[in-house]
Formats: sequence, structure tokens, C-alpha cells
Amino acid sequence: MNSSQPKNQFRDLIDRQVSGYSLEQMFYTDPAIFEHDMQRVVFKQWLLVDHESRISSRGDFFVVEIAGDEIIIVRDSNDSINAFYNTCRHRGSKVCLNKQGNRKVFVCPYHAWCYNLDGSLRGAPLMGADFNKNEYGLHECHVRTYEGLIFVCLSEASPPDFDEQVSRMKPFMELHDLSNAKIAHRHSWRLQCNWKLVMENFFECYHCLTSHPELSNVHSKAKYKAFGSSPSSAMPEALAAFEPELRAWRQHATSLGYTTDQWGDDWTSQSMQSAQRLPINFNANTLSETRDGKLASTLMGKFSVCDGGSTGVTFNPFSTLLMPNDHAMIFRFTPISAEVSDVEIVWMVDKHAQEGVDYDRDNLIWLWYETTEQDGEITENNHAGVRSRRYKPGPYSQQEEAIKMLSKWYLRLIG
Ligand code: FES
Ligand SMILES: [Fe+2]
Repeated sequence: MNSSQPKNQFRDLIDRQVSGYSLEQMFYTDPAIFEHDMQRVVFKQWLLVDHESRISSRGDFFVVEIAGDEIIIVRDSNDSINAFYNTCRHRGSKVCLNKQGNRKVFVCPYHAWCYNLDGSLRGAPLMGADFNKNEYGLHECHVRTYEGLIFVCLSEASPPDFDEQVSRMKPFMELHDLSNAKIAHRHSWRLQCNWKLVMENFFECYHCLTSHPELSNVHSKAKYKAFGSSPSSAMPEALAAFEPELRAWRQHATSLGYTTDQWGDDWTSQSMQSAQRLPINFNANTLSETRDGKLASTLMGKFSVCDGGSTGVTFNPFSTLLMPNDHAMIFRFTPISAEVSDVEIVWMVDKHAQEGVDYDRDNLIWLWYETTEQDGEITENNHAGVRSRRYKPGPYSQQEEAIKMLSKWYLRLIG
């Protein structure tokens, strides 16, 4: 598609996508569709970008890249967290050339316009008497925090109702108390693939038994057959096979006072949120996602006894948390361009846990580091194959209901 194509051709393209099949090639490769995706889907979400402990002191900042734009996230002198586009209001240079650090002000390296940590322009040399500094602050992004997590929204209009979105997660989030967490490790993968292929891969587990030996060993196989990654995609017979394990774990977790709830939006919602708690592998007495099934770190939040469960919270398909009782992982899926995407995992533990004493970093990150390495390869292969002249949309399996819903959600938003 090019931007001069009439609107009705784009409408035709959307309408001819067949439900239950992957999308046509151009949805994964076309730069004009990518830009449309950003405006209609991505910029309308509250994107989870990091944990507040990354910028614990005044002046601490980091830079995230989203759809080719750089966003500076900084803690100012009033302890407020602000977010700005990294583009100077003079002639557009990047204002900040570092990925993280600490600043009292941001000085543009080109002609030295100087910005305060709240984004306002502090000084601009030789701009003349009628120049009004107040009109040239850095372009702001919407930013909110919740339970120690930082979210940004890149919409130029009003963002979605943040309080409403996070309030639905409360019973799940308060168990883990991430406001008292700290970052133990982070790793980013830059993948040569479209963002939709990253998501399709993450939200189905049709591939898990074949592609993820470590993940399939740690987790209950019956659970993966039943749910894949998403409870919304449960299959009746497989669910029946998993039911005894699920029931036993629910009894156990409930007796300890922990929720065992699960819910998920359908494709008609704005952000397709979901939250659930499930056992990791209750029949094997697995406590955490480690090689030996034992805890990786000290218990977090309200957990005084480990229930062997893991909480999944999806704020939107770009921003997910997976949380056993002893650590938590932010999964960030970020579109960069039509054929490039970033995946980042941030591993967190209780803020008092000490590396080498309470947790071993390799043990902590092992499972999802290995799994995401595997997913990176799978997804890049998927993208390379989708670029073939002979690629045609193919049918989803019974275990890919979640991505059938994801496609419907996406097509509705861009339509
Ligand atoms: S572009 Fe930043 S000061 Fe000129
Ligand atoms: Fe995977």
C-alpha cells in the first residue's frame, strides 16, 4: 500500500482478510501499513516502559525507542517522572545522545539550547528579544506510574483512561507489590520481523512443546496443551485433562489466601487486557521457573508461603508481566519499523534481595532468556518466510485461538 491509495482500497484489503487465517503479506512488510498501525493501534495504548527503580534519583533518565522515535523518561527535581520526545525545538537534533544517565538539565549538542527536567526551555542563545521561551518546551508524552511501573502513551489526543485500565489489575498486582521491587537484570533483542509476528508468537503456545524444551519441562504439559499462553484459548478436551491439577492448585492457593482468578477482554476492547493466576507445575511441586523448580529469590509482596502459581498480567498486547511468587518479569514488545521489532525482558526481585545471597542472576533469568532466544529465531524465520513471493495466509490451529482474536482486534482497530 502507498499513502496515495484511496481509502476504499485499504478498506477492501481489511475486509478480504479471512478470519482464522494469518494476514496477507503486506500487513507484515508495508511501511505505510506500519505507520497506520502506529497511529491507530500502538499510540493509543499505555505502553509499559520500565520500573521506577531504574530512575530512583532526581535527574536520572533513560531513553526508549518506540516506532523510530526516542522518548526521554526522566525523574525531575520534584520527584515527578516526565516523558519527552528526544527532538530539539530549535532545528530538531536529538537533545540527548546517551541511553541513560543523570542530568541537571538537557543541553542540545547542536546549538546549546538548554532544557529543564520538566521539559521547559531554560535558555537559548542569541534568539532575540521577541523570542518566547515558554513556547519551545520539549514535546511531552503522557506518562503515568502504577505499582512502581512507568507507562507512556504517545497519542497526541487524550490517552485512554489509565485509572480504569489499571484498576482492573488490582487484585493481581497487589499480591506482588512491585512498588517494592528492584531491577535484577534486563536483556533486549532487536529482531528482524514485524511486530505482529512477535505478538502472534507470544500469545500462542502451539509451538511450545516443539520449540521450547526448557519451558515445557518446567511448566505443566497438561496446562500448555489446555491453554497455550492464554486462558481465553482453552480447548475443551485438553482443559478436562488439566482440570484435576488446576483444581488441586486452586484449593491450595485459596487456602493460603491468594487469588486464583482469571479474566480476559475479547477483541472488541481497546487494549485486550487479561489477567490470570495459574500453577506453574503443581503436580511436580514446582515453586518457581527455575531448573530445579525451587525458588529463584526471596518471596515478594504478600506471599509468605509460596503457592507455586504464576500471575500473568497483560495491560495490552505490547506490555505484559509474568510473575511467579519470587520474581517478576516485564515483557515489552516494541514496534520499531515495518520489519524490525524490539523485545525486552526486565527481571525484578524484592528490593531487599541481594545478588549472590538471595538470588543467582543466571538461575533467575535462565528460563525466559533461553525461551526468548528461541522465540527470536522462530519469529525472524517466520518473517523471512512471510516475505516469500509464494506466501499465502495459512489457517490457525485449535491452539491458536488467542491469535485469531488478536487479528480480529487488530483489524478492528486499524479499520
Ligand atoms: S538543534 Fe538543538 S540547539 Fe539547534
Ligand atoms: Fe515461544
